[in-house]
Amino acid sequence: MTPMAKQKNDDLMDKLVSLCKRRGYIFPSSEIYGGLTSCWDYGPLGSELKRNIKNFWWDAMTNRRDDIEGLDASILMHPKVWETSGHVSGFNDPMVDCKTCKARFRADKLEESRCPNKPSKSPLECGGELTEARQFNLMFRTHMGPVEDSSSIIYLRPETAQGVYVNFLNVKNSSRQKIPFGIAQIGKAFRNEITPGNFIFRTREFEQMEMQFFVHPDTDEEWFETWREERWKYYQALGINEEKLRWHEHGPDELAHYAKKAYDIEYEFPFGWQELEGVHNRTDFDLGRHMEASKKDLRYFDERFTDKFIPYVIETAAGVDRQLLMVLCDAYDEMEIKGEKRVFLRISPRVAPIKAAVFPLVKKEGMPEYAQKVYQDLKKKFKVFYDESGAVGRRYARMDEAGCPFCVTVDGQTLEDDTMTLRDRDSMDQTRMTVAEVTAFLEQKISG
Ligand code: GAP
Repeated sequence: MTPMAKQKNDDLMDKLVSLCKRRGYIFPSSEIYGGLTSCWDYGPLGSELKRNIKNFWWDAMTNRRDDIEGLDASILMHPKVWETSGHVSGFNDPMVDCKTCKARFRADKLEESRCPNKPSKSPLECGGELTEARQFNLMFRTHMGPVEDSSSIIYLRPETAQGVYVNFLNVKNSSRQKIPFGIAQIGKAFRNEITPGNFIFRTREFEQMEMQFFVHPDTDEEWFETWREERWKYYQALGINEEKLRWHEHGPDELAHYAKKAYDIEYEFPFGWQELEGVHNRTDFDLGRHMEASKKDLRYFDERFTDKFIPYVIETAAGVDRQLLMVLCDAYDEMEIKGEKRVFLRISPRVAPIKAAVFPLVKKEGMPEYAQKVYQDLKKKFKVFYDESGAVGRRYARMDEAGCPFCVTVDGQTLEDDTMTLRDRDSMDQTRMTVAEVTAFLEQKISG
């Protein structure tokens, strides 16, 4: 990237962070105390967007399929889970310390890290002397109960997947699903990242949307390809610019300890191409290890097979916060209109936090009363917003910047024929509709 392109992208991230604060998407955590590194709070619009993204994923992965069940396992799990899964011994990142400024960096991400004393330089360029790399375990540890000794150590889960594996038998037996079938879960995960950063891209507390699909070992490669296709279609349905999406296959030195094969879907963020979601062939690694350690038979059998077998797992692992950041980056747009620079957040109606705003054109002649009725009507079905303050052009501009895809305006004609204008944020076209037509239009745009 040229220095000018880098500056432009840095500026874009700065503008996005400040828009998120101004419009109530994302705030620094504990801000009145100076904030807490890598922790962020989702505001009124951010929490709606986050919920909509999770619902969009849940709908695609469970409601629209017959072969995937949902689960909500606890964050705190038996410590043996993490010993058995290999996370206690192997969930490490290599770390180096700077002898000059005492900062700590991920040894494999030095080029993209910044020196705290010279932020324009990486630790490779700032002149500081670095230590040899050491392994650093990423799991957060705490104690369960009133006694703080080695027998009470417990971990905050670093991935949601293990909650699925230890519930494999429970879900299979209670749902009577037959292989191939999957278990989907959305939930918080925690990693004591050495170098968090890039806003909500890499944080220490984040949310995952993961699905584990259990298959016969002879069919793992076929299912791996099927899930790669499905996950690509998901981002198409979310309306993401496909030129900014690409696949990255993990080389042997990148593969996680549990994976036979892995591909990331990467997105071109303003700070470069980065992992958005992983599709992993985890083989029978996890179920096999848990079967051995727990002495519970986790093998599968039904009348279609001659032998019992440990299912292979194809995993799709996405981060909620990272997907939300992608939605915001992909939606951010600036346009000059009549000499004024205007910002548009072109978020798909499917996940937009507010689906429509309702305005009376002016605050008189019965228009506010009529618009209030429209608002109350639409509110029964959608997240809508009522605004009567300021010129209508300014109200449109506020909603464009907040990511609202449609504005419904009650004007003089409404009082005569019960039609109102529906303005599309992206085309700026205005169409006259009755409230019943607005409802049907919004339903169609949201459900797709
Ligand atoms: N169960 C497999 C697993 O956890 P991963 O690639 O380590 O795989 C899956 O994580 C996804 O979780 C990533 O693609 C990313 O979207 C999200 N993720 C991982 N670490 C994160 C972090 N520190 N901050 C935000 N999101 C993260």
